[in-house]
Amino acid sequence: MIYHIYPLSFFDSNNDGFGDLRGIMLKLDYLKELGVDAIWLSPIFLSPGADCGYDISDYYTIDPKFGTIDDFRKLREEAHHRNIKVVLDMVLNHTSNKHPWFIESASDKKSLKRDWYIWKPGKENRKPNNWKTAFGGSCWEYHKGTGQYYLHSFLKEQPDLNWRNKEVRKEMFRMLRYWLEEGVDGFRFDVINFIVKDKKLRNNSFLHWMNSSRKLRTRNHPRSYKIIRSLRKLLDKYPDKMSVGEIYTLPPGDAKLSASYLANGENSLHLAFDFSLIFTSWNARAYYKVIDRWQKSIPEKGWPCNVFSNHDLLRFYNRSRFGFFKKEKARIIALLLMTLRGTPFLYYGDEIGMKNSSVPLGKMKDKLGKKYWPLYKGRDRSRTPMQWNSYPNAGFSVAEPWLPVDKNFAEVNVESQKENPDSLLTFYQHLIMLRKSSAALHRGNWIALNNGSGNLMAYMRTTADEQILVLVNFSPFAKHYIYPLKSMDKLLLSTHKSSLGKTFHSKINLRPFEGLVFKLNEKE
Ligand code: NOJ
Repeated sequence: MIYHIYPLSFFDSNNDGFGDLRGIMLKLDYLKELGVDAIWLSPIFLSPGADCGYDISDYYTIDPKFGTIDDFRKLREEAHHRNIKVVLDMVLNHTSNKHPWFIESASDKKSLKRDWYIWKPGKENRKPNNWKTAFGGSCWEYHKGTGQYYLHSFLKEQPDLNWRNKEVRKEMFRMLRYWLEEGVDGFRFDVINFIVKDKKLRNNSFLHWMNSSRKLRTRNHPRSYKIIRSLRKLLDKYPDKMSVGEIYTLPPGDAKLSASYLANGENSLHLAFDFSLIFTSWNARAYYKVIDRWQKSIPEKGWPCNVFSNHDLLRFYNRSRFGFFKKEKARIIALLLMTLRGTPFLYYGDEIGMKNSSVPLGKMKDKLGKKYWPLYKGRDRSRTPMQWNSYPNAGFSVAEPWLPVDKNFAEVNVESQKENPDSLLTFYQHLIMLRKSSAALHRGNWIALNNGSGNLMAYMRTTADEQILVLVNFSPFAKHYIYPLKSMDKLLLSTHKSSLGKTFHSKINLRPFEGLVFKLNEKE
């Protein structure tokens, strides 16, 4: 199970209002107890912070907000000591505009680093083509100094590197080797499907916003796959390293496209995100459809991963599709995440049911919300400080946190849920333990027993020696499912504690929003 930490918001060890590496270190025992196998840290490198760290100005230096390289080493050591792996977020598509490479590139048209970024002559107010950034607006920024445009797929403070340039590739691979030698266990590659663009910079078709991203000339270029193959080759030179690619597709959830980045499962990314589950509305049939599509897209030797929340797409807990019964639904999401086939990615705070906060405009840090998409209210909502206890600032920091803590912290926090056998946190702990103790849940097949009709989902996870049956009632009404349970079959877990110890027969009754996990053919 991979736990995604947004370092700015996890735990502040030096009371400056920002989470840091020592803070993460101090919470490793909590993570161990939860059952975490690896932590993925959103970027921790030196950054001016235009995009909260996704704009890197030095890939070799830890941003002082987070600590020093010694802090990083200590964290890695302490994590490894507890058998927790450390995965770093690597932004290869672009740098910060404050990176010395860009500064040099922008200094002169004849600069040796000019070709490290994507420059195009053009008149002011006449953009080189119609490409749009992922955040909206043109991909081109006019640079008065040299009278040319440069390309940026995200903010203008994030110029795209030119991956067709050999020197760029060499330098980036050198940097990745550095971190591998530092003992990191893998990388989450940011927007890796953006890495190569159409060489001729041809326009996207007129309706490109409505087009599938397969047709965009700014993404999924055949050469991206080639680069990913060499990234994998590099990782394979070291024992036991992993990679997960952020493959953001338009429309969201093009599972086949995400899965194409797993190639044959051996010479590409180890894992690729498919965000379909995040965009699925609450009913069993809709969930079945995206799960089935994702599972069927995975190559024979590949392996899926599953994700329900992240720092960009907000938390599942109170996304509008959840409507009423959020608490019940959060338990079902936990159950799905830990019983579906694929590596689970859990976003910090989801295990206690942290919700998307409402961050007032004046306190917003994410430019996307503040400046570009004010109605959308930005991504800060899912980046608020971790709620550790009911003390001021939720125990995150003694100083004023960089983003306000959600108002519900007195009820929703780790400390209050830790000792409570009915809490979401305890439920996650049980589920994760269960997953670890069951080969079928951990690495078995996924076999759908129905297609989600009747708002109930039924599936099996199986290996040669073990069969697990999972039933999930998505509806606010009681349901039943017919399955010839034998007397040896055993209920392992329910979202509703009161079901434990009950005897089930072939007509399995489920209460509203109940999920059940059975082990079949259990010897008495
Ligand atoms: C994806 C990251 O998850 C997001 O936070 C960031 O803004 C963009 N990539 C650009 O790096």
